[in-house]
Amino acid sequence: MKIQVNARNHAHYFATDPGENILYGGLSKSVDLPYECGSGTCGTCKARLISGELFDNWPNSPGRKYIKSADEFLMCQCSAVSDIVIEVPAFVHTIEVGTCTPDFLGGRIKAVSLLTHDVMAISIELWEPVDFDAGQFYLVHVPGVEGFRAWSMVNYQRHATTLDFVIKKKPEGALSDWLFSKSREGVEVEVFGPLGKATFHPDIAQNLLCIAGGSGIAGMMSILSRAAQCDYFTRYTGDVFFGVRSATDAFYLDEFASLCSQFPETLHITVALSEEEASASIVADYPQLRFEKGFVHEVAGRNMQGRYQDVRAYLAGPPPAVDASIRMLLQARVATNNIRYDKFS
Ligand code: FES
Repeated sequence: MKIQVNARNHAHYFATDPGENILYGGLSKSVDLPYECGSGTCGTCKARLISGELFDNWPNSPGRKYIKSADEFLMCQCSAVSDIVIEVPAFVHTIEVGTCTPDFLGGRIKAVSLLTHDVMAISIELWEPVDFDAGQFYLVHVPGVEGFRAWSMVNYQRHATTLDFVIKKKPEGALSDWLFSKSREGVEVEVFGPLGKATFHPDIAQNLLCIAGGSGIAGMMSILSRAAQCDYFTRYTGDVFFGVRSATDAFYLDEFASLCSQFPETLHITVALSEEEASASIVADYPQLRFEKGFVHEVAGRNMQGRYQDVRAYLAGPPPAVDASIRMLLQARVATNNIRYDKFS
């Protein structure tokens, strides 16, 4: 199908295969259409149909609440069934050569393991290597579960043949039920990406502040890995705040301790426990880390007071936690272009 996108700056043209949704089709042809989640929840990819016919693959998606008129639709959920003309209320540019252009790829689930009672680590082996930036995510489709889910990579490397993710179990989530009900090792999956603009590159040359709730720590691990690989913390500071409810919900503590041991002067990692004080034993087991009681944005706010100069902040986690962190940073007068975030629900 031929797609014409009338954006605020000018028109773009690309083609989609039958059934291919418009957002993925455009991104894979280097048309940088607006999106945030890529999976039907945030409403950022809302567009207006001027002519032609669409099929909505997920008419009940949560992002439909942002649709205000009959001619509006979500590009990440709709495919064209005829040639169409659409209007996008944003400036749309061509994805620069040299950046990681999103595409579809196949792979298989190579390994799964429980990190806590309701958080799982999962590794997907890809059929061919990919490049992605630290902080990006892939959309993953598994057999028998409708649609794609957005998962941030934990790992970072060029020409990666494995994508590592952290998945939080959701009550009555179709994918959670599929993943947590029995071992899925060996199952073939489809992925689309890389996506996401909350990326870290060492050229930013700024101190790092990472605030993450729960499985939102995934993208921060990728950023920390990227930074550690280039000895970034020999030149800049890093402050990481990881929020969970209790110590039994915390994970990656060994990895954090190892990173802090590598950069003891400049990298500080604090685990914020919203429901309890840390036990004496966990504090003794991890002398490299700090533990504090409180919501993650509160703990970060207390510790960062007066230390926001030349900081680039990365935020990830459930929307309320990310929103609270954004408010805290804006009150501290951190410029919006130094606040990068991923919300997921
Ligand atoms: Fe389509 Fe989020 S990008 S709803």
